[in-house]
Parts: sequence; structure tokens; C-alpha cells
Amino acid sequence: MTKKVCVITGSSSGIGAASAILFARHGWDVCVNYSREREPAEKVAAACRAHGADVLVERADVSDDAQCVTLAARVKERFGRCDTLVNNAGTTKFVDLKDLDGLDAADFQRIYAVNVIGPFQMTRAFAPLLRAGSGAAVVNVSSIAPLLGGGSSIAYIASKGGLNALTLVLARVLGPTIRVNVVAPGMVDSPWLRNGLGPERFEAMLRNYQSASALETLVSPEDVAETVYYLGAIAAKTTGEIHVVDGGRRLGR
Ligand SMILES: NC(=O)c1ccc[n+]([C@@H]2O[C@H](COP(=O)([O-])OP(=O)(O)OC[C@H]3O[C@@H](n4cnc5c(N)ncnc54)[C@H](OP(=O)(O)O)[C@@H]3O)[C@@H](O)[C@H]2O)c1
Repeated sequence: MTKKVCVITGSSSGIGAASAILFARHGWDVCVNYSREREPAEKVAAACRAHGADVLVERADVSDDAQCVTLAARVKERFGRCDTLVNNAGTTKFVDLKDLDGLDAADFQRIYAVNVIGPFQMTRAFAPLLRAGSGAAVVNVSSIAPLLGGGSSIAYIASKGGLNALTLVLARVLGPTIRVNVVAPGMVDSPWLRNGLGPERFEAMLRNYQSASALETLVSPEDVAETVYYLGAIAAKTTGEIHVVDGGRRLGR
């Protein structure tokens, strides 16, 4: 039987890496993508190959349309198909929400370029390959930030709200052949937050998050990957949905 193929942007680390390994464990071939450092991507690829996956490791910055188009061409050339696209790559600038002067238009434009325009460009570039198969899916990795009105910066929160809206309209226009959904993680223990906040602020935020969550826990990249896999491979009748994975943070205690 021909194996299914998943393309996951930003899969050299964190949620994307855990998702790539999970798809490989389920018997899929995988394209691992990164924009800067190849070595971590090669490590993820080795972990996927250990599960029997054929892996393509490709550098592409999702904010650059030409690189998205080239990535789709490379996937077509190597695998001849794409069954699931996971738009996971994201960026932010850590700025206190009350510091309105801490962000300028260039910050918004850089963050939107990766978090909103990137998923649009990737989906457009992969749409022909996705449409060519059956049961294709796009999973956009957003955040609970726009649902809470809280997060690493106002620009980040607004960009993820934009990604949620993009998901709804794409679910409408790409149906009936392609399903499009969001996974919205809460605070995830990944290099993103540890590096972005620094160890002291990270530990403080961790304690706050746990005490405010019904399940009293952070979410791991592997927890989020389970839902990425569910929406990307299993949920055949689900489209245009925002699936929260936050340990009960929105519910509270
Ligand atoms: N961590 C959290 O608490 C949390 C919570 C909610 C939502 N999220 C979302 O989850 C997603 C993944 O976050 P994470 O915590 O797993 O982050 P991470 O560990 O920092 O990984 C980010 C990945 O994205 C890649 N990347 C960054 N910019 C890129 C670009 N322009 N084009 C292609 N790849 C790019 C990075 O590789 P290179 O550095 O080589 O480019 C890396 O592979 C993001 O969309 C984030 O907004 C995270």
C-alpha cells in the first residue's frame, strides 16, 4: 500500500518535531521543514526514520512565497503526494502587554508574515497536491492566546486570531476535498517559551499556569501532536474547528 505523506512546517523543534515523529510512528512518510538550523531537523528526521518513514528534510521560510512554492515542488518530486499539511511554524516577540510602545509596525508585519501569511502561502502552494488525493487535511497550529486575550505580545495574539479566521474561510473554500482545522495549544513546555522568557520568568509563569488550570498541568509537545494527528489523519467529518489543548486553562479552577 502507498504510504501517506505529511508536511509539517517548523518541525525541527517542539510541537512540529513531536508531530513529525508521531506521523512517522503511524506509518506516514514525512517532510521535516525548518528555516535556519539544519542539524536539529536532521535529528528529527533520524527519529522519524527509526519508525520506518521516508523523510525529506527541507529548508524553507514560510513567509517567503517562492520558498513555499519550491517546497511543494520538492515534495511532489520526492513523494508525488501530500495528504496532510501542518502549518506549525510560528514566531513572536516577547513584549509586556501593557507596553504599547514595545511593538512597532515592523514587528506586526514580521509576526504576521510567518503566523498568518505563511500558512496562507503554504496552503495555496500545496492545494493542488492535497486536492489530488482523497481525505486531505490542513492543520493550523494557533494558540489559546486569541481566545484568552493573553500571550507573548499583542502582535502575536492578534496574528493567531487572524490564523483562526483564515482557517474558517479556507475550510469553506477548500471543501469538500480538503478539511482545515486549528489546534490551539495552551502553554507548552518547549524551547520557544523557555528561551523567550528566560528561566526565572518561565518557572513563575509555569506555576501561575498550573494553579489556574483545571488539570493543574502544562501541555507537552507530544500532547499537542496527538491532536494534530487526530485532526490531520482521523477526524474525517471535522472542518473549520478550533480544537483547544490547554490542560483546562480556559476553564480555570
Ligand atoms: N510553546 C508554546 O507555549 C506554544 C503555545 C501555543 C501555541 N504555540 C505555537 O506552536 C507552534 C510551534 O511552537 P513551538 O513551541 O513548538 O516552537 P519551537 O520549539 O520554537 O519551534 C519552532 C519551529 O519553527 C521553525 N520556524 C520558525 N520560523 C520559521 C519560518 N519562518 N519558516 C519555517 N520554519 C520556521 C523553527 O526552526 P528554525 O529555527 O530553524 O527556523 C522550529 O522548527 C507555533 O506556531 C507557536 O505559535 C506554541
